[in-house]
Amino acid sequence: SKGEYRHFMLKEIYEQPAVISAALEGRLSDTGVLVESFGPEAAALFARTRQIHIIACGTSYHAGLVARYWLERYAGVPVQVEVASEYRYRYPVVPEGTLFVTLSQSGETADTLAALRYAKTLGYIGALGICNVPGSSLVRESDLTLMTRAGPEIGVASTKAFTTQLVALMLFTLALAKCRDKAPLSADEQTKIVQALKTLMPICQQVLALDSEIETLSQAFAEKHHTLFLGRGAHYPIALEGALKLKEISYIHAEAYPAGELKHGPLALVDSEMPVISVAPNDDLLEKLKSNLQEVRARGGELFVFADENVGIHAQDGIQVLHLPHIHEALAPLLYTLPLQLLSYHVAVLRGTDVDQPRNLAKSVTVE
Ligand code: M6R
Repeated sequence: SKGEYRHFMLKEIYEQPAVISAALEGRLSDTGVLVESFGPEAAALFARTRQIHIIACGTSYHAGLVARYWLERYAGVPVQVEVASEYRYRYPVVPEGTLFVTLSQSGETADTLAALRYAKTLGYIGALGICNVPGSSLVRESDLTLMTRAGPEIGVASTKAFTTQLVALMLFTLALAKCRDKAPLSADEQTKIVQALKTLMPICQQVLALDSEIETLSQAFAEKHHTLFLGRGAHYPIALEGALKLKEISYIHAEAYPAGELKHGPLALVDSEMPVISVAPNDDLLEKLKSNLQEVRARGGELFVFADENVGIHAQDGIQVLHLPHIHEALAPLLYTLPLQLLSYHVAVLRGTDVDQPRNLAKSVTVE
């Protein structure tokens, strides 16, 4: 039941601190990931992994895009990420030592399953499935599995399923780094990320406590027809996910761009009728992002920035800022997802749409 919540989506957004800690439960030591969480054969398979192909659809695909930044940076493994409906109809080249990874909340998405079945004919060293539904087709047909433990997700718009996928993918990154000889991640840095994972629950709670401020911000969007989401690095996929949430439940046209692409086209769209949303965590791309935001401001674009409290981005004319608590850089994509979910939710409620059951969409896409 929805309990005290008006919609399942809101309830599921609020469940995130709890399900994120469920996703971590029993899978970490003080210094690293327990690789056996992925199954008894995982350590041997990860040690042999030279490349990774990640296949998924929709929100799960966005989780895969975040993971690419993590896996290449921390585990030092080249990664390709692709939507299942494209992958299944091309003739992919599979280099030796490639691990196939699928991400799916339901484990029943037709294209993702078809991609997995196709991949089995292509010479991968194995298939890892990251999934939320035990006993689903995806789980049954994968060699290794990691359950995301988000619990049932009723709202069509995926929220807690996404953030728990990110947790699972960070565990995968750390496990892979541990099993490989030359991973870039030092033992010290690994310990820091593990410690940061253990503080995720209270930090997510702090972000959810910003809900009424986000609700106030949402009023600026209710009458708009278009929005632009900007992010850099691992926050580019977070911008994509923010835009997907807004379009699917509020029916407002939303596009996401890597902030560095602005000048290559989308800047032409920016005017006072096109709000621009950006996530600005404290990472080494911050200065570049700040100058992209100035470019938007100079064209009269109204900016909404979710920024780390320490980065020195403050509200001014045409720029509204919501400060988020500081978090280890590696985990920022997870945290910055939450305000974007709440923003879409409140915009949709203002517009009076059917939040849990948006038009034309089904929770589980079991046909092509
Ligand atoms: O169950 P799956 O994760 O395989 O579903 C994939 C997409 O259909 C799904 O993520 C969809 O994009 C979301 N409901 C959007 O919020």
